[in-house]
Amino acid sequence: MYRKDYQPSAYLIHTTELSFDLHENEVIVNSKIHFYKNPKCQLNDDSLALNGVELELISILLDGDKPDYELTDQELQLHNLPDEFILEIVNRIHPEANTSLNGLYQSSGNFCTQCEAHGFRQITYYLDRPDVLSVFTTHITADKDKYPVLLSNGNLIDDSGSSVTWHDPTPKPCYLFALVAGDFAVLEDNYITLSGRDVALKIYVEHHNIDKTQFAMTSLKRSFAWDESRFNLEYDLDIYMIVAVDDFNMGAMENKGLNVFNSTFVLADPKTATDKDFINVEAVIGHEYFHNWTGNRVTCKDWFQLSLKEGLTVFRDQEFTSDLHARSIKRIEDVNALRTFQFAEDAGPMAHPVRPESYIEMNNFYTLTVYEKGAEVIRMIHSFLGEKGFQQGMKLYFERHDGDAVTIDDFIASMSDANDFDFKPFMTWYTQSGTPKISIQSSYDKQEQRLNVDVKQLGDQTYLLPLKYALLNDQGDIFKEGMLHIDQQQQTFSFDGIESKPVTSWLRDFSAPVNLTTDLSFEQKIFLVGHEQDAFSVWDNAQQIWLSLILTPEKVNQSLFFDAIEKVIKTTQDKSLISEILTLPSERLLHQKVDVIDVFDIHQKRESVINKILIRFESLLLQTYQSLVDDKAYELTPEAVGERSLKNICLFYLSKGEYLYLANEQFSQANCMTDQIAAFSLLVASDNQYREKAKSDFYQTFKNDAQVMDKFFAVQSSSLVGDVKSVKLLMQHELFSFNTPNRLRSVVGSFAQNYINFHNQAGYEFFTDIILKLNKTNPQIGARLVSVYNHWKRFTPELKALQQQQLEKIIQSDDLSNDIFEIVQAALK
Ligand code: BES
Ligand code: ZN
Repeated sequence: MYRKDYQPSAYLIHTTELSFDLHENEVIVNSKIHFYKNPKCQLNDDSLALNGVELELISILLDGDKPDYELTDQELQLHNLPDEFILEIVNRIHPEANTSLNGLYQSSGNFCTQCEAHGFRQITYYLDRPDVLSVFTTHITADKDKYPVLLSNGNLIDDSGSSVTWHDPTPKPCYLFALVAGDFAVLEDNYITLSGRDVALKIYVEHHNIDKTQFAMTSLKRSFAWDESRFNLEYDLDIYMIVAVDDFNMGAMENKGLNVFNSTFVLADPKTATDKDFINVEAVIGHEYFHNWTGNRVTCKDWFQLSLKEGLTVFRDQEFTSDLHARSIKRIEDVNALRTFQFAEDAGPMAHPVRPESYIEMNNFYTLTVYEKGAEVIRMIHSFLGEKGFQQGMKLYFERHDGDAVTIDDFIASMSDANDFDFKPFMTWYTQSGTPKISIQSSYDKQEQRLNVDVKQLGDQTYLLPLKYALLNDQGDIFKEGMLHIDQQQQTFSFDGIESKPVTSWLRDFSAPVNLTTDLSFEQKIFLVGHEQDAFSVWDNAQQIWLSLILTPEKVNQSLFFDAIEKVIKTTQDKSLISEILTLPSERLLHQKVDVIDVFDIHQKRESVINKILIRFESLLLQTYQSLVDDKAYELTPEAVGERSLKNICLFYLSKGEYLYLANEQFSQANCMTDQIAAFSLLVASDNQYREKAKSDFYQTFKNDAQVMDKFFAVQSSSLVGDVKSVKLLMQHELFSFNTPNRLRSVVGSFAQNYINFHNQAGYEFFTDIILKLNKTNPQIGARLVSVYNHWKRFTPELKALQQQQLEKIIQSDDLSNDIFEIVQAALK
């Protein structure tokens, strides 16, 4: 599919009336669709192709008569159509056998749907494209003893007799359709909007989970309130429902008025969820809620515009978390994830622009580039315009486009027009793949009291980007700060009246998603670790030095750096920040920094720095750890989160020495999952006297909790103890479930990140078998997992050859899904 081939649909839809007759072993779908000729369509075409996949057509009537039609395995083609008509279709589907988790399927015996991007065509024949919006009415008939809860989008307008009827007054594309039927417990509350409307809030979960829903409800109300106060956006319907299901390919889905969530992002209590889990639940609930305006009220014209809703909504959920919790820590975590995963994607075979030009399988383009880089691009717009200008742009965007399906250009035009700012040179961010490289060199002229700064863009593309900076004097005071507009291949900036040579700090707050090289010396970076006010810059300079210490220790003055780190530990107020600074760059990040990936060498080098830290800081770490052990009640404040975070990074280093017993003590005394899982991972990571007992205690305590069991499996698959055989054993466990993506990811996904155990012939062969099985059951998950091989060309010769063999084996297999084919053929190119 190519972006350039976009054509408006020849027909549009006024209303869609669906009736579902639900049975355990089949579902009959009855649809009545009111079509009319698209006045904006140039083509004089009286044919129409409806999408439909794996459907059994039972009957079809056009204005009451048999139409002229043809069926293929992907389409229903209609011919000789009038300008307006009613199409009535009856078809059969089998949700009970649907392991793809797209369309209508079952989870724990309950029915639910996932329609984005192309799932609706697995329910009935339809114009399955985001620019065809219509008003939906949904009737659901089912055995109310088995399925007492029957839900769809909008308002419940009839609940008499054996069926229910839902009506959604807001026109929407079919990817926002949802249906849920089953036996659920519900937590109810309400929210009074800014203008005084009363919205019913409902969270549906399986009965045994009802005690873990309060935090999700609080998060939902915070989301309503935040979008009102920061974006002046109110909710529009009288009811907002969230349903949690255990079987879900993604995190959550923003269906109008009826979000469907992966249970992982709803259920949370301190005993079973970590601090990170809590913040994630709140962020995902926020994200899906914020889509109501950025995605639903204004949606995408075609799927190439995906970042229009996802990049913007990720930016909004990042701001939500930043406003409610610790902004600087959130920024550090987001940038770290971006550089570790998105930069790798942008340097690999699936690299694509934030607005892709083509795809084979759309599900493969819900990527870090579309989401995270897309959010960075919005963040740069925000930096150029400031909060006020940005909000004026948003206001104009909604005034112009509420109720429409639009493009990224439409969004940018609103931002431009509301601010009289020219974003034309900015569009490179949407059209070009890859991470831009920027270099900065500065020179100080004592005579002229002038600082000259040369900024170069090293690629052949020219980007417009905001470059935030600060200048520090030798006392470490910031005497100048600001933002440069970079819009040329080469630019020189002069700062006058500078009395002595300053230390320069560039790309503060990571103001643009680029790879930056500067002429800063090692000593200047240490100086910035000690004096920068911007927490991101402090962290980033420390990370750069850790990186050198791991990869090129001979070039680093270790004791000078460790003195600076000691000062950080002793004087920094923000304990989360100390903990971030003490966290070494991950092995995954290090892989990007070497020419040839030798997983064993990188692991050893990183371990040796861990040892150096332990040797130098043993007593300080111990003292810090002990000062943070307490039995305070659990709180999710930034201070409490920071205390746990610092405590657990200390424990991590100490456990590498003589102090594993501390992990064992913490494991048995922990009052929250954050402390418990931190200790548990350390006990399971190595072969030691506590390991087996910890495993059985943990299992006995939490075996009935799916979220905690996912952690239980992930910790074991990530452990350096054992090999592929131990993972195969985990797959024999009675709680293992191949068709539940959360569980598969926790066992097999975690193993593929366990570089030491995964990267060998047996590891690869095991993994390839899983991919080939997923190709038949759930290709979307298969495609995500197979991306592990994307960087095969960069590995040491032996592992490179082995990975290539695996990719070739996969591509030669019969009946390869589009999902897996697209990834593997790109990797082999
Ligand atoms: N619209 C997506 C869900 C989705 C993803 C549907 C892929 C179809 C294919 C939803 O808004 C989303 O982005 N969910 C994220 C979580 C979010 C917090 C970034 C997800 O599911 O990972
Ligand atoms: Zn989203």
